[in-house]
Amino acid sequence: MSESLDQNKTDIKQRFVKVALEPQAKQRHPIGPASAKRLGYDAAEIDALPAQVTESFAGVGNPLALGELRAGDTVLDIGCGAGVDSILAARRVGPPGRVVGVDMTEEMVKKAKDNAVAAGVTNTEFHTGEADRLPVENGTVDVAISNGVFNLCLDKPKVLAEVFRVLRPGGRIQMADVMLDERMTTQQVDRKGAWSD
Ligand SMILES: C[S@@+](CC[C@H](N)C(=O)[O-])C[C@H]1O[C@@H](n2cnc3c(N)ncnc32)[C@H](O)[C@@H]1O
Repeated sequence: MSESLDQNKTDIKQRFVKVALEPQAKQRHPIGPASAKRLGYDAAEIDALPAQVTESFAGVGNPLALGELRAGDTVLDIGCGAGVDSILAARRVGPPGRVVGVDMTEEMVKKAKDNAVAAGVTNTEFHTGEADRLPVENGTVDVAISNGVFNLCLDKPKVLAEVFRVLRPGGRIQMADVMLDERMTTQQVDRKGAWSD
């Protein structure tokens, strides 16, 4: 990997270590339960989760609103962060189903594991890993979900190829993300982090 791509990845990790460990500090973009509610999550469902679970939520939309999960489904949460979507998905798929969360930031993975315990769900597992090299077997996932992650991935075609590799035939992806608006100027696009300012 080139030095500048390496630096990009280091910057991204540092940003999310801060979201995981210092959610009360000033962040570059909205996080936490109030942000989840603004993005369309059911307020009662968010309020019912322990505060430690929702404080580091950093999504940009609600991928769970894009389709119904069925009892028994296997769900993969790519870039799971502190695990809010994973935990909500785990409750929907129930004990016959399971949710695998993957995130490249170790501090997020540790927090997601702690959060699953705090929320009382037992059908989740969380792994440190990268979206372009998912630590998941071929053809084992019914629904892949992702919230605010693809925009951060340096090789998007490789990530999509990984999603197709792990999905079962007939599986699907439900994702929320940010996109560049064509009215943005080149200067705005070039300014690192402009999407979240
Ligand atoms: C905007 S946050 C969203 C976290 C979570 N999905 C949520 O909704 O709260 C993006 C997350 O993606 C992770 N991430 C960024 N690039 C990644 C990659 N290439 N592979 C795996 N995780 C990545 C970050 O560590 C961070 O936890």
